Amino acid sequence: MKFFLDTANIDEIREANATGLLDGVTTNPSLIKKAGREFFEVIKEIASEVDGPVSAETVAHDHETMLKEGLKCAKIADNIAVKVPLTIEGLKTCKALRAEGIMVNVTLCFTANQALLAAKAGATFISPFVGRHDDVGFNGMELIDDIRTIYDNYQFDTQILVASVRHPAHILESARIGADVATFPIDVLRKLFNHPLTANGLAAFDKDWAATGFSIL
Ligand code: E4P
Repeated sequence: MKFFLDTANIDEIREANATGLLDGVTTNPSLIKKAGREFFEVIKEIASEVDGPVSAETVAHDHETMLKEGLKCAKIADNIAVKVPLTIEGLKTCKALRAEGIMVNVTLCFTANQALLAAKAGATFISPFVGRHDDVGFNGMELIDDIRTIYDNYQFDTQILVASVRHPAHILESARIGADVATFPIDVLRKLFNHPLTANGLAAFDKDWAATGFSIL
């Protein structure tokens, strides 16, 4: 399963990249606002920092303007995935961008039928939002399970990019289901490494090793 970082903050991206486990980055207009930097400048810097796909989101609602935005975003770097919303206009744009060989991430997916539409439009990635689904009383992971079944039934190669991830249990369940990618904030990445028994075990080994007086180097 690929790990993407859900941020437009370059320091967080560098921290994640240093682990050697980062496969890409997703951004959205809210994350751009939070980063407080000019859109093209920050996307260009992220795309040069990361080898994998970097999602840059369009903001127009009509196909014609969205396509112009998408084509402009795609010119920033070869690893840009243009993000479009799961609307009729967004999927028209998805199809047109894919015809140009541009990666497309279809975002704001909340049903398996929407994911089916995105796959038929040739999306590179579909982004179902599990956390926001949980927030309103649904089980976000059931959505991922349904999409996996549907994509496998028809051998769609659209990658399931689990988005709106809130905690490590979302990652675990995504991996169990066989999602292709999960995108999550830096605090979730940090939590994936942590376990109190790992920390306690390390402290005990340190203490015993110090008592031996030996040295490896
Ligand atoms: C990713 O592509 C989405 O924009 C993001 O995961 C949304 O997450 P949120 O629900 O935490 O805003």
